[in-house]
Amino acid sequence: STSVPNSATVPPLPAQPAQAPNCNLAHMNPLPPSVFTLPQTAQLEALYTIIRDKETSRGDFLFYSDRIIRLLVEEGLNHLPVVARTVETPTGAIYNGLAFEGKICGVSILRAGEAMEAGLREVCRSVRIGKILIQRDEETTLPKLFYSKFPPDIAQRYVLLLDPMLATGGSAIKAVEVLMEHGVPQERIIFINLIAAPEGLKTFCSRFPSLKVVTGWIDQGLNDKAYIIPGLGDFGERRYCV
Ligand code: URA
Repeated sequence: STSVPNSATVPPLPAQPAQAPNCNLAHMNPLPPSVFTLPQTAQLEALYTIIRDKETSRGDFLFYSDRIIRLLVEEGLNHLPVVARTVETPTGAIYNGLAFEGKICGVSILRAGEAMEAGLREVCRSVRIGKILIQRDEETTLPKLFYSKFPPDIAQRYVLLLDPMLATGGSAIKAVEVLMEHGVPQERIIFINLIAAPEGLKTFCSRFPSLKVVTGWIDQGLNDKAYIIPGLGDFGERRYCV
């Protein structure tokens, strides 16, 4: 008799997608109402496990962090407003659907946030992108604005603010302050982030309660050097340095 090789050894698909064992609520429960996380699935946790691994090559780090960034950008877009739109399909039928409303732009917090720009461009063709550089002032130790460049009509746009690692929240808070000085209300900003520390997330959300945060994972906390634990180390180093 003929048999299909190996088929008996392959387990059947589970009835439901498996949940990640290390989900967000372990470190922050309840989440602030303005925080939205990616679905905490086992697949997502497998992606994070690769980018957290210190043995992961730079090429794999790029590939897998890009996959997560793409998911984050798509989730961020779900928070933008839509309006009714009716179209006719090639069958002659009328479809009462939806259309995106309003203009968007990305603003990356340099340098790590720059790594998220390509993911945004893949999803939003010819999107305008601004940049903001914030560093610690050596005298005051406070976050200080060093450089910013925004689309001239930024006050009329929804802003996707990009920074992969939210540690103490200092630079993200400064970045939002600068955007608000340029006429963007917090209600029109969506902060897009790969990994957040609960400390920074709490500070950021209580400062800007109407600003939405889309994050992939909330980690345990910060160490004494303000690195996220378990984290993935220095995102910029892992992405840009061989
Ligand atoms: N920035 C990083 O790149 N990593 C951290 O852990 C914290 C901030």
